[in-house]
Amino acid sequence: MIKPVLRMGDPVLFKRAEPVTQFDTPQLHALLQDLDDTMRSKNGAGIAAPQIGVSLQMVIFGVGANPRYPDAEEVPYTVLINPTLEPVGAEMEEGWEGCLSVPGMRGVVPRYTQLRYRGFDQFGNAVDRTVSGFHARVVQHETDHLLGILYPMRVRDLRNFGFNEELFPGQQIVDD
Ligand code: NI
Repeated sequence: MIKPVLRMGDPVLFKRAEPVTQFDTPQLHALLQDLDDTMRSKNGAGIAAPQIGVSLQMVIFGVGANPRYPDAEEVPYTVLINPTLEPVGAEMEEGWEGCLSVPGMRGVVPRYTQLRYRGFDQFGNAVDRTVSGFHARVVQHETDHLLGILYPMRVRDLRNFGFNEELFPGQQIVDD
């Protein structure tokens, strides 16, 4: 079911999400379905459970051909529960991000270039990947939601944060 997406300012988005304790339950599958329906309805690259008001450590992400990120590298569709991140090296890079909870805006955010992430899928199977680039950026953005962090809180220079129409005049950007 498509759910309303909470917007920045809602206190749920600033909470630390609780770990999932039981896998492969009807409740967890229903939550996954809601996340999936809601993300697809907005053409999002990812979504975290707190964004639909559920303070649990579950995110999904994936980028195929996405009108919001026309030049982005593809990222495989992933369900990630109780994630832990481990940077590989100290290198960081800046890149533009948007968020369904901060509609109509973009900001430049520094993220680790390469990282290893671990967690579980909805059935409790282990996920363990080492990734880089846009995939690494998406994982960091989504897992930040589980820590109560929204990307504008990581923007270093607020001149690189603003409204799509002003930042990218004349460009066709799908509004979130
Ligand atoms: Ni987001």
